[in-house]
Amino acid sequence: MHFKVIPSQVRDASVTVPGDKSISHRALMLGSVANGRTEVCGFLAGEDCLATLTAMRALGVDIRQASPTEMSIDGVGLHGLHAAASDLNLGNSGTAMRLMAGLLCGQSFASVLSGDESLSGRPMGRIIDPLQRMGATLDSNDGKPPLAIRGSSPLRAIEYALPMASAQVKSAILLAGLYATGTTAVIEPSVTRDHTERMLGAMGVTVSTSNGTVTLLGGQQLTACDVSVPGDLSSAAFVMLAALLSEDADVMIRNVGVNPTRTGVIDILQSMGADISLENPQLLGAEPVADIRVRSSRLQGCTVDPALVSLAIDEFPVIFVAAAAASGSTKFSGIGELRVKESDRISAMADGMRIMGIEISETEDGAVVHGGRFGGGIVRSHGDHRVAMSLAVAGTVASDELIVEDVAAVDTSFPGFHTCMAGVGANLKPEQLR
Ligand code: S3P
Repeated sequence: MHFKVIPSQVRDASVTVPGDKSISHRALMLGSVANGRTEVCGFLAGEDCLATLTAMRALGVDIRQASPTEMSIDGVGLHGLHAAASDLNLGNSGTAMRLMAGLLCGQSFASVLSGDESLSGRPMGRIIDPLQRMGATLDSNDGKPPLAIRGSSPLRAIEYALPMASAQVKSAILLAGLYATGTTAVIEPSVTRDHTERMLGAMGVTVSTSNGTVTLLGGQQLTACDVSVPGDLSSAAFVMLAALLSEDADVMIRNVGVNPTRTGVIDILQSMGADISLENPQLLGAEPVADIRVRSSRLQGCTVDPALVSLAIDEFPVIFVAAAAASGSTKFSGIGELRVKESDRISAMADGMRIMGIEISETEDGAVVHGGRFGGGIVRSHGDHRVAMSLAVAGTVASDELIVEDVAAVDTSFPGFHTCMAGVGANLKPEQLR
């Protein structure tokens, strides 16, 4: 399937986006090992989270889905999971694989985690090392999936300084830490999303964060609690960009998660001159949410503050689009982690934007994007959902029609992307291969 994007004007609109992917994964995993029933609403029924749902069911958890976005999870307690009958296939999802690995390390049974072609090429050494230090055995294909995990019970608590900023690695260690004797400490080089810590806290587990170190005492039981999943800021970012780049739009995106460990995209776009404001802020359980109002703006290039990188890690493809539409050039540094996402996002975006007539130079962990005018053409998604959606947004302000090839992966995180974009006036249609 591909997207056909005809240049179009975004109009004034009020929309919602699907639930947060990170929080949806965590609700399934933590709800499964909690004591009692966890009711989840606003769940993201995208392929990544559905892979986690299937995996938790295969491990013996009774999870009912009253509607695509509503789950009822009968938690089995920390030690109530059972060995799955076969491999757990986690599709495209790095989050599912890394967090599940942490959870499964403390079990007294073995598990095998596998994934699709993209996930099978992603680095797992970053979790294998700390989890082995905790006492589990993880065999891999030279540091890549599939992962064969032989759990150990109990695990040993460790103090671990993360070599890279990664909420997935932090979360894997914290989940394993629940099964460890003693206090597990994770030292972060920079702040990453803290949804695991917040949800554990909401379920009665004491997790402390101080001076960049997150600590948790093993053996604490989780008590089920209801989870309302806010809209995903990473999905809202595409709508935000389409509105910003349009001529005279005023768009409200309602009920979006604005956890401060995620809002780097808003800070970066504001530093480029974007008119974005948060309205109606409130707490939805453990997570802050707000309505995000975005008005069309003239953007200027900037030097992106490397301190914001881990707070905007998934939004760089769409921030590249903002940079290409801005006046002047925008410099990115410290973004090497983008090279090991669902695709090498620096080169995938450079490939697509160059075809559209934008000048961009790359270094190993950075890029310089020169503002210009998007032309049309045929671009590749590299099988990456966020690259596909970012290029499609660029197409809404291009001078000619744009085809974005191979967009099936969009359903991993943003089912209904094209309908949502049509809701703000973008002329973007999925079409089967010609
Ligand atoms: C996620 C963490 C991030 C992000 C991913 C979701 C999570 O990965 O890119 O989409 O839910 O913990 P890293 O922590 O590896 O950067």
